[in-house]
Amino acid sequence: MELSEVMRQTPGCRDYRSDPVPDDVVYRVLDAARFAPSGGNRQGWRVAVVRDPGTRLALRDLYQAPWREYVRAHYGPPESMDDDRKSRVADADRMAASMHEVPVHLLVWLDMSVVAVTDAAADRPSVVAGGSVFPFVQNLQLAARDLGLGTRITTLLSHREDDVRALVAAPSGWALAALVLLGWPVHLPSRLSRRPVERFTWRERFDGESFNA
Ligand SMILES: Cc1cc2nc3c(=O)[nH]c(=O)nc-3n(C[C@H](O)[C@H](O)[C@H](O)COP(=O)(O)O)c2cc1C
Repeated sequence: MELSEVMRQTPGCRDYRSDPVPDDVVYRVLDAARFAPSGGNRQGWRVAVVRDPGTRLALRDLYQAPWREYVRAHYGPPESMDDDRKSRVADADRMAASMHEVPVHLLVWLDMSVVAVTDAAADRPSVVAGGSVFPFVQNLQLAARDLGLGTRITTLLSHREDDVRALVAAPSGWALAALVLLGWPVHLPSRLSRRPVERFTWRERFDGESFNA
């Protein structure tokens, strides 16, 4: 696929076939992802390629409470949701229940000792630290899509970081950036719902006119 098509057609995949993903295919995905940029080119990411059914089930179980709490905090009760929201949450609920069936789980960790967190002193949560790992994660998702694979990311397991650390013997000092599910999709939509450029870009200043061509 053309790069621009891959970028436009990489959704969070909800339904996967049970077919295995061979090691050489997983390797190709990782081999493309590794060209991501990182601060100082320190490449502080490490990935546990998890296939073990018991570990996948444990990850599914650890995900449930943070997922329910996320829905409660961000979406409110079902009766307050519009139909589109309801259907998206229902899809994600189904995904939450069945995620252990996705054949490959990529646990992406970041070595915090090599990351320069330049906004660490700001009076808000850091956004910079993630900048040295999420380009890698996005590359993973794009490379997978290019090979016809589906992916879905969750960052909610960070609420259970120490449990996940124990599952894969990750050293202390490493932060869990994301779990990326990887498998062959049942179906991937070709049209994603995203805002147009004019809705999130301004000329020169936030109070400038919206940017368009
Ligand atoms: C940082 C990040 C965290 C996410 N966490 C979750 C998650 O915990 N559970 C989930 O089902 N989807 C998760 N997603 C997927 C988003 O919900 C999805 O990309 C978004 O709703 C757009 O949907 P679409 O890709 O189907 O168009 C996450 C995506 C990102 C970028």
